Amino acid sequence: MLASTNIVWHESEVTKENRQEQKGHKSAILWFTGLSGSGKSTISVALETALFAQGLHTYRLDGDNVRYGLNNNLGFSPEDRTENIRRIGEVSKLMVDAGLFTLTAFISPYLADRDQVRKLVEVDEFIEIYVKASLETCEQRDPKGLYKKARLGEITGFTGIDAPYEEPTQAEIIIDSNELSIEASVEVIIAYLKKKQYI
Ligand code: ADX
Repeated sequence: MLASTNIVWHESEVTKENRQEQKGHKSAILWFTGLSGSGKSTISVALETALFAQGLHTYRLDGDNVRYGLNNNLGFSPEDRTENIRRIGEVSKLMVDAGLFTLTAFISPYLADRDQVRKLVEVDEFIEIYVKASLETCEQRDPKGLYKKARLGEITGFTGIDAPYEEPTQAEIIIDSNELSIEASVEVIIAYLKKKQYI
């Protein structure tokens, strides 16, 4: 819904295709989703390093980081999470237009929110990567000590404990982070990008 009236879209002369051609590769959103502690951020950091080393143009948006700035007015209510994902979707769309591989690492627990982002861009510009790890594994890892706090009732509405996570039904890539190492996860994603001729 537009809150503004009397606004008119102004086209650039340089197009997304021009930018992709200049960079020598396609652009797309690599949308990591999964529980806190599943490995989204770690795998996306390693993937970005690998893509960058191949001369590809990338940018990474991460849940915790974005909540320090752009989304510092949002909490973890269902409405705020939806708004979090909506904004990241829009920012990612701009980055795809700018010709970048945009790696996002957000829990993004709601199917409908992720599907909204999918619809924002062209069919082959949204690659959903489900980083799948059991709640037990994530809770054991507990890198930020947040599961412990959630179990003690010091945090309420924590994903996986007393807030839902809706698993993807059409993820392009599923990474079983219980089984796969970070390096192997990166290889799986790069193999997909090559097979589908993104790179
Ligand atoms: S999302 O649900 O809106 O997509 P996002 O990925 O931005 O979440 O932020 C998740 C991160 O915020 C977690 O990795 C964790 O560090 C922190 N966090 C703090 N409170 C919560 C909570 N109630 N539920 C989930 N994550 C939380």
